This record gives sequence, C-alpha cells and structure tokens, in this order.
Amino acid sequence: MSNRLKAYRIAVFVSGGGSNLQALIDAQKSSRFRSEIVLVVSDNPSAYALERAKKEKIETLVSRNEQEIISFLRSNQVDLIVLAGYLKVVGGEILSLYSQRIINIHPSLLPQYGGMGMYGIRVHEAVFAAKEKQSGATVHYVTSVVDGGDIIVQKAVDISNCQNAVEIQQRVLAIEHQILSEGIKILEDI
Ligand code: GRF
Repeated sequence: MSNRLKAYRIAVFVSGGGSNLQALIDAQKSSRFRSEIVLVVSDNPSAYALERAKKEKIETLVSRNEQEIISFLRSNQVDLIVLAGYLKVVGGEILSLYSQRIINIHPSLLPQYGGMGMYGIRVHEAVFAAKEKQSGATVHYVTSVVDGGDIIVQKAVDISNCQNAVEIQQRVLAIEHQILSEGIKILEDI
C-alpha cells in the first residue's frame, strides 16, 4: 500500500484536561485524517482527558511504567504516538522503538520559548513578559532533546492586544487545536 493511503493507529498521551485530545477526536470524526486513535495513555489518574476517551469508547491506560506502556502500545498495534499535554519526559526505550513516530504539540513558535521547564502557562508568561507581538503553536517530532525535534507544522497568531498570559494561552490553544490534526495529516501523506 503506498504511503498516500497511510493510516496510523494512534496512541495519545495526556496529563490534563484533554482539549487537544478532544480536538483530535473531533477531527477524526470529520475525517480530517485517515488515522485512528486506538489508545489514550495518562500518567495522571484524574486527568479529565481520560473521561473524554471513555466517552468515545477509546481504550485508556493510566501508568508511569515504561514497560507496561510499551506492552499496551504493542497489543494495540500502535504505530504513532501523539503527545497532547503530556507532562512527563518519554522514556528512552519508547523513543527508540518509535523513532520518528512520536509527535508533540508545543504552545509556542519553537525554537523560541521551548526546552526544559517551558510548558503550560509558563510559556505564555515568558512570551507576555517579553512583549512579543505574536506567538503560536508548533507540532514537532519528539527526540531526546526536549522540544528539539524537527518541526512538522507551525502556525503564528497575533497577540499584540492580549492583556495577560492567560489571554495569550487561550489564543494559542485555539491554534493548537487546529494544527495537531494537520500534523497527523502531513505524516499520512509523506
Ligand atoms: C496545553 O497548554 C498545551 O499547550 C500543552 O498542554 C496543555 C494541555 O492541554 N501541550 P490539553 O487541554 O490537556 O490538551
């Protein structure tokens, strides 16, 4: 089968509310990509993202054990991992098993405002403090360098009228919800 018809079996890794997971679920339903979300993995048992998955009858796993996660990935024949608000660093064995098959959504225009410790509201506080006129989101490959993998897709947004970091976060989150599914589509068509 040529790559043009490539469809992945996706595991989405989450830690929080899961608005990016929800955007992917909605995009899959509207056939914005051919791939299928078959597993949601969380390190956090109370992540609301797990409720979102259960509502869609998607299998879930709560675990911080790399071997347990790997066996669930294998038993679900997962061939693409999407980190969507996942706050843990992905273990070395998963990184090598899924080389060039793990992507992440980061809430800034990488390489700016990325790297260790730059996640969640901290990113937007730094952007606001620097009086940036624009911010945005980036979908990139995951490697052993935090937020250092090649960029797949990136989209900017004007934030010149934002009054605080939370307003920036809301504006960037809307961009994240758009481009994560675009990133999957790009991988399907490579
Ligand atoms: C968001 O701030 C996003 O930028 C980052 O993780 C956070 C959680 O988002 N990737 P979600 O609502 O759990 O998808």
